[in-house]
Amino acid sequence: MKKHSRRRFLTTAGAAASVAILAPTLLDLSPVFAAPSMRRDIGGLGASDPIITGYKTAVTAMKALPATDPRSWSYQAAIHGTYTSPTKTAWNTCEHGTYFFWSWHRMYLYYFERIVRKYSGVSGWTLPYWNYASPTQRQLPAPFRDAASSLFVANPNRPTVWNTGAASMTPARVDPTAGMAIVNFTSASSSLENTPHNHVHVDIGGWMSDPATAAQDPVFYVHHANVDRLWNLWKAQGGGRIDPLSDSTWKNRLFTFFDENSTQVTMKGCDVLRAAQQLNYTYEGEPAQVNEYCLRIILPRWVFQLRELIRWPGPPIELGPDRVSIPIELKNLRQRMMSIAESKTETLLLKLEGVEAERQPGVVWEIYAGLPPNAEPDPEGPYYVGAMSLFSAGVHGKMEHDFKPAEFAFSLNRVFATAMKTNAEKLELTIVPSGILINGKRSQPKVASRVRIGRLSIAVETQAKTR
Ligand code: C2O
Repeated sequence: MKKHSRRRFLTTAGAAASVAILAPTLLDLSPVFAAPSMRRDIGGLGASDPIITGYKTAVTAMKALPATDPRSWSYQAAIHGTYTSPTKTAWNTCEHGTYFFWSWHRMYLYYFERIVRKYSGVSGWTLPYWNYASPTQRQLPAPFRDAASSLFVANPNRPTVWNTGAASMTPARVDPTAGMAIVNFTSASSSLENTPHNHVHVDIGGWMSDPATAAQDPVFYVHHANVDRLWNLWKAQGGGRIDPLSDSTWKNRLFTFFDENSTQVTMKGCDVLRAAQQLNYTYEGEPAQVNEYCLRIILPRWVFQLRELIRWPGPPIELGPDRVSIPIELKNLRQRMMSIAESKTETLLLKLEGVEAERQPGVVWEIYAGLPPNAEPDPEGPYYVGAMSLFSAGVHGKMEHDFKPAEFAFSLNRVFATAMKTNAEKLELTIVPSGILINGKRSQPKVASRVRIGRLSIAVETQAKTR
């Protein structure tokens, strides 16, 4: 196994490895120059690949550690979230609905990967990623469906339809295109947090649908490796896509974790800008990573301005099992909106704010504009705006103290002209609950909790050059 050579293991651990590990090899300088390790696409890994077998070995070993050991499976999951109290150091620290979403989860995976590597028995072990955007990978990856494996989670903590391979994600749900097109960091991160990130959590269900239990399911980490890969892919597109390097809170806030030796460590945004250089990993198939530096601030090329055009005057919108339509009067704004939708520097945004539910609704809501009243909602069709689902933000849980409502923004640029053809006076929005595919067919979702949208508006976002 060339790929998992001892050399590579040493460089990978090098960033913070103890002196004891490095000392015997100090005379061998080559590890310092070795290539970073690669996180592989799980779709290309066979059942006997050391990445898969090593993950299984590690999960078993970590579950056998006492719960007080920060490297134990339950402690690691509790760092993300837990219902267990009293809480211990670093528990319940996951970041959702904030601009730390990408950076916090990158740090979390980094230390988790080091712990798994240690217990996997595989030198240079790396976390694989689940590329569900690929048409061949919309089912739960095969290694997680093997009931004899430590990667398996039985119903109800992971629904049987996923474990049998009957369930799959609809293509629109796992398509990151909309978020990848956004230039502004916070907006892009927020869009991708919703699609595909939240939808994957909610569609899988069980432990995965609740932030307080999600990280107990071993599939959580391959899902998040993919979300982390999207961060790199987003930046690699260029065009002004940069991390918030002029924001000192984003750069310097410290988060606490534990390494593979149980040593408590902290990390900040500035430590996770360059995955290959700072954390020693790349993703299989990704383009050259963009190297950003905290001390060399690149000034943003664009400034964004948001102006509200129309606010839904009615009462809060309640979503339940039935299709809901929201007719928005355009009045004299139709022409203006048409030109915004056609513009390259302006975006017509549908904004949903104050979105909340008593419990996890367990469904994803699809949003359409101009959908004719009798037409079947089709996320591949011309009226589809996007989908929203709640994970963490917006869900009233047992941990009421950190409740915050969710908010979403969707571009209407692509659908606006089509929507105007069905009704020139009003913009007819339709919101429908939607389930997963079972044996390739759309399933009837069960709405476990109603959702309330406190505020709905249409705004224009203008992008202007700073220099
Ligand atoms: Cu912190 Cu996908 O969750």
